[in-house]
Amino acid sequence: MKESARLSRAENKIVGLVPTMGALHAGHMALVERAKRDCTQVVTSIFVNPTQFGPKEDLAKYPRTFESDATKLESAGVDAIFAPQPADIYPPNFRTYVNVEGLSDRLEGRSRPGHFRGVATVVLKLFEIVQPTYAYFGRKDAQQVRIITQMARDLNLNVEIVICPIVREPDGLALSSRNVYLNPDERKAALVLHRALTAARDELASGTRDALSIQSTIQKTFAAEPLATLDYAELVDADTFEPVTRVSRPCYILLAVHIGKTRLIDNLYLEPSSANPDVFDFHL
Ligand code: PAJ
Repeated sequence: MKESARLSRAENKIVGLVPTMGALHAGHMALVERAKRDCTQVVTSIFVNPTQFGPKEDLAKYPRTFESDATKLESAGVDAIFAPQPADIYPPNFRTYVNVEGLSDRLEGRSRPGHFRGVATVVLKLFEIVQPTYAYFGRKDAQQVRIITQMARDLNLNVEIVICPIVREPDGLALSSRNVYLNPDERKAALVLHRALTAARDELASGTRDALSIQSTIQKTFAAEPLATLDYAELVDADTFEPVTRVSRPCYILLAVHIGKTRLIDNLYLEPSSANPDVFDFHL
């Protein structure tokens, strides 16, 4: 991969990297399609990164579907698949980790200690190996892409981070490789995330700016779904990821929930409209 990256650079290719853990769905493929539009060479990495999983998490049972992933990527016109083994990325005596301070220990980082240290470390390694001009990430993992953008800035990385919108099922469930864990009842219950975000959006659209009021609407929606246990529902500043009390600048409503044993996340991004800052644009 490093040799191929060196050649691409020498040929002045515009290289796009789409980092994934495989089990590819339309959300991943939207990143690939965007990369195909922007770049002259697209690399997709498939690596179930052990360092971003906690000891009690689903590393062993995470879906691994390399053959069908490769077929999808080939039809989409991807130029290379980089699918290393854990020992290639973490040889014996590996000792160096990247920690994006502050942003990494809240929300997802609080529920999943060490998760973002594993993410930042592997993403930096992928950037070093593939040497992309652009790297593509989904807004589905809003805190992840915020942390990666910060890392790229702090470490002067020669890569531009591109953020792509959330891809959803027709009924609103955000696509996720973990959706395959849901049984039919849980699949229905999982719609509570989208229901809570649309209720919050409607309340904001009708003029509410008070975070507590919006949070209470979200909590009521979750209380009505017995199969769901809320981990967190927070309104945060889109830059600092600190809680806000009033919505007046770009913000996220971030949700994390357990449906049975499956943990799902989703979010709503809102920003003041450029035409009229009293009105919000919603990215659901
Ligand atoms: P993974 O969960 O496979 O996701 C790969 C990329 O696809 C991420 O940027 C994620 O935000 C994006 N994605 C997932 N579901 C999406 C959806 N419904 N709509 C739009 N984009 C979506 O995120 C990871 O892997 C890993 O942490 C990784 C960055 C590869 C580092 O190991």
